[in-house]
Amino acid sequence: MDMLDGERGPGTASSPVNLVDPDLYAAGDPFAVWRWLRENRPVHWHEPTHMPGFWAVSRYDDVRAVLHDPATFSSASGILLRPQAQGVDPGGGRTLALTDPPRHGQLRQVVARWFAAPSVRALEERMRETVRLVLRRAVERETVDFVTDVAARLPLYVICGLLGAAPDDYEQLFVMTSRAFGDEDAVSRSAAHTEILRYFMRLVAERRRTPHDDLVGALVTAAVGDARLTTQEILLSCDNLLVAGTENVRLSASGGMQAFLTEPAQWARLVTNPRLASSAVEEILRYTSPATHIMRTATTATRLGDRPIEAGERVVVWLPSANRDERIFDAPERCDIERSPNRHVALGSGEHFCLGALLARLQLRVLFEELAHSVDVEPDGPPRRLRSIVVNGLAELPVRMTYRAEASGTGPR
Ligand code: HEM
Repeated sequence: MDMLDGERGPGTASSPVNLVDPDLYAAGDPFAVWRWLRENRPVHWHEPTHMPGFWAVSRYDDVRAVLHDPATFSSASGILLRPQAQGVDPGGGRTLALTDPPRHGQLRQVVARWFAAPSVRALEERMRETVRLVLRRAVERETVDFVTDVAARLPLYVICGLLGAAPDDYEQLFVMTSRAFGDEDAVSRSAAHTEILRYFMRLVAERRRTPHDDLVGALVTAAVGDARLTTQEILLSCDNLLVAGTENVRLSASGGMQAFLTEPAQWARLVTNPRLASSAVEEILRYTSPATHIMRTATTATRLGDRPIEAGERVVVWLPSANRDERIFDAPERCDIERSPNRHVALGSGEHFCLGALLARLQLRVLFEELAHSVDVEPDGPPRRLRSIVVNGLAELPVRMTYRAEASGTGPR
């Protein structure tokens, strides 16, 4: 296996590079570690810790090579690192994100329609109304946590609507998902997860009785190959969509806001030129890169860079690192809302490219357009980062929000 040959990375003496320490993301500088890896060990054997050993891939071109070769780098054994003791991912080989071709394509077909351009475009007006409502409530309270009170609500409401939850249940689901995926202890998180699964079990039973044109309705009636999806597969899919559809948008939106607070000149550019919103969204995605790692498992012996990889070994790509690869991006540490070209991999690449990409982009565009149009945001205390190796970004961003007096058009909306 790869040794460091006496070169010391930016870690401790016993573990020169430790990408699986959640404190690195809460309080350390993971970007310094990735920069060192890109420069010195672009394909690096990461010794086992509480996590099994894996190849850490940090350069943009290598990350894309892995993501574009599902035959060699499989998703079916899971796409996130798990402690050895937890065994294999229960969704392995069954849910969309955790399957390989050809089953992957068949599963994607079942839900693709809801995430295609015409369906997503049709959501814009309602999304804008939701954003205005969320912003109005935040401004009324004046000081808020941007993560929970602004960035988290829109994606949750949107995905709940697509899945087919009743609007009266959105707040209840918001509380459940915040507990299931937040900073609480493992027991409360697991209890909240169980509540979410119970909620969707009821919805699945309803859709079986009365078909309906929503995502749960589609999953219930879908045939993949010559078989229907099992109840467990449907529930895992609902859970995955809920997580995938909420966490990353929340983290990009709040990370984007924080970037604007620390670089007011970029915010001023967006306020004076709202046409930059789409390009700003791409830069927010690149700069925040909330999905931290994605795992694959080698199906056969292969090589990556100058490293030999054995069949069965884990290969983990680090997206925020690829998105700051100085070989690809000029001044990668700068947030530049007019960056062009901007071929980031924050939404993945290849076979499993984010199903919700259009939806995520639209949500971020609408949110930042509305903010830039009429709201002033100022920091109101220190931000706090998440303690997670799966997603990176803010757990809390205290801000003060007011309507801008000179907002053009009809004023506060
Ligand atoms: C800023 C927001 C988002 C980011 C950064 C993001 C990131 C990603 C990434 C990196 C992947 C690739 C995983 C892989 O290669 O194994 C992915 C896949 C996926 N995303 Fe997103 N995502 C976002 C928003 C959404 C939304 C709003 C949804 C809606 C439900 C969604 C649903 C999915 C699904 C279902 C997959 C699996 C696709 C497949 O395996 O074919 N994502 N996402």
